[in-house]
Amino acid sequence: MSSLSILCLILFFILLPHTILSKLEPVEALLNRLDSKLSSSSVQESAAKAVLQRLLPTHVHSFDFKIVSKDVCGGQSCFLIDNNKRSIQNDPEIMIRGTTGVEITSGLHWYIKYWCGAHVSWDKTGGIQIASVPSPGSLPLVKDEGVRIQRPVPWNYYQNVVTSSCKYYSHYMSNLATSDMETNMKNLVVRGSTLPLDSYVWWDWEKWEKEIDWMALQGINLPLAFTGQESIWQKVFMNFNISKEDLNDFFGGPSFLAWARMGNLHG
Ligand SMILES: *[C@@H]1O[C@H](CO)[C@@H](O)[C@H](O)[C@H]1NC(C)=O
Repeated sequence: MSSLSILCLILFFILLPHTILSKLEPVEALLNRLDSKLSSSSVQESAAKAVLQRLLPTHVHSFDFKIVSKDVCGGQSCFLIDNNKRSIQNDPEIMIRGTTGVEITSGLHWYIKYWCGAHVSWDKTGGIQIASVPSPGSLPLVKDEGVRIQRPVPWNYYQNVVTSSCKYYSHYMSNLATSDMETNMKNLVVRGSTLPLDSYVWWDWEKWEKEIDWMALQGINLPLAFTGQESIWQKVFMNFNISKEDLNDFFGGPSFLAWARMGNLHG
């Protein structure tokens, strides 16, 4: 091996860790910036309590929730489940600590799933099945040293652009033979309201709240937030003196927002 290639090899190993580190730095910086924007501990704790209240109103006093610093898990996001030290009978049985509100709700879901055999799904895939959760006062204990689950990656991402306005449509279409497609597409478009029934764009708050609760319980901390996207674009384009009327023609209608956002519409 020539001395030049040895030199290159040495340089490679000296520079490698530096390259990896400099790639991680922006992620660290982003995480720190996001952490600095978190709501106060009490707001996050009561948001998690509100999820419990909607999911298992009978057990609102069975759990204690507490936000803890990331130092508890060596700087990472995590949740911890412990048997609560009860001094009186009505004290909460289970203590769930987490580095954010979403960590706490994922801890709650972890507990009712793995200790109580519960299942929390979307309505169409079984819905909320919590009948197996024992009554308050009889909740199963976790092991003495508690449970500690650390998030292996910073973000759990959910959704894609078509879920905002084409979910029902694409699901329905994928089950049809190509020859049936045109007829069905015509029917669906004619019957307008049938087409996007299951798309976010038609959801009311009640449905959103249930979905957001589901996300929180599954530990999702990076959902797409497309709602209102066109309003931002409208502001930007209007700064370039494009009229509101022209923009109204340009943006897709509610059922077709996803396609319009992806630039798939012409006309
Ligand atoms: C928009 O119109 C205003 C008024 O005519 C003009 O001053 C400005 O430069 C225009 N902006 C752009 C981006 O063309």
